[in-house]
Amino acid sequence: MERVLSGIQPSGVVTIGNYLGAMKQFVALQHEAECLFCVVDLHAVTVPQDPEALRQNTRSLAALYLAVGIDPGKAVLFVQSHVPAHAELGWLLQCIAHYGELGRMTQFKDKSEQKDVVTAGLFTYPVLMAADILLYQATLVPVGEDQKQHLELTRDIAERFNSRFGETFKLPEPMIPKIGGRIMSLQQPEKKMSKSDANPNAYISLLDDPDVIRKKISRAVTDSGREVRYDPEQKPGVSNLLTIYALCANRSLAEIEAQYADKGYGPFKNDLAEVVIETLRPIQTRYRELMASDEVERVLRDGAERAAALAAPTLAEVKRRMGFLLPQ
Ligand code: TYM
Repeated sequence: MERVLSGIQPSGVVTIGNYLGAMKQFVALQHEAECLFCVVDLHAVTVPQDPEALRQNTRSLAALYLAVGIDPGKAVLFVQSHVPAHAELGWLLQCIAHYGELGRMTQFKDKSEQKDVVTAGLFTYPVLMAADILLYQATLVPVGEDQKQHLELTRDIAERFNSRFGETFKLPEPMIPKIGGRIMSLQQPEKKMSKSDANPNAYISLLDDPDVIRKKISRAVTDSGREVRYDPEQKPGVSNLLTIYALCANRSLAEIEAQYADKGYGPFKNDLAEVVIETLRPIQTRYRELMASDEVERVLRDGAERAAALAAPTLAEVKRRMGFLLPQ
């Protein structure tokens, strides 16, 4: 059976890109694999966070995991900082990873560009991500396309460790959806949809109200012409909207293209807004119930315990192989 691990940062808004690129896969995988999903709060603090907002965002993201359909009876849901083994293995792997390879990470280059202050944590961020994955001997990592390079680095670190100290880590495979692996900005369809976009019209939050969703979709940038056709090169804006439609409605691109072939962008966008609203409605209802209860706390307590038990043997093995004197 495959072992699956993935994580999401609690850094504010969760977008429909996070949902379609990652969370939707998580929900499907929990029925066929042993799954662990985490709220990666240690990753979030690589850039400044307001302490109270971080606490709230962590709880809110855990509630969203449950609201989209993660079943704590099937998958282990936990907060990264509740399992200290992540930070510990993260340090050990920092002593395996090379400075040069971290400098080549495109996400680091993007995130550090034009910043006055770049923390050391932002630089070593992908090593902590490798630790998250390798700690559980995960074989499959469902992520969006932007994480592909980090997964390659994880494999490189694991291979280096294995060849130096003996077979210890399994090599994880990324699982990136062919359609939806990169949902684009509604305002600049050549750019990835990102929760940190300064313009909120660029993304749809899983918690956006119906009216906000209607407005954002009606303002979404489309391409010249009026043909609803999937062609990411020539028509990046419309192709992105078609992708969102297809994934939310669970229909094929071809079917949707045919439906709007001679109708133009207006009716297509109106219907898309309703499809997105209906997709998010049950998630938002469940989210509100969860936030008003203490179920999140209960699930996270149990999740941390289960995750810690799964993590301990790998961490102990790593320390033994590296030559640490184990306490007697
Ligand atoms: P994060 O928090 O930026 O995003 C969470 C997940 O959402 C995916 N994603 C997207 N997919 C499609 N289209 C988009 N526009 C889009 N934006 C985001 C991301 O690829 C990701 O799968 N480093 C990770 C978190 C992490 C992690 C891990 C992931 C930490 N440890 C271990 C997997 C395994 C991150 O920053 O994701």
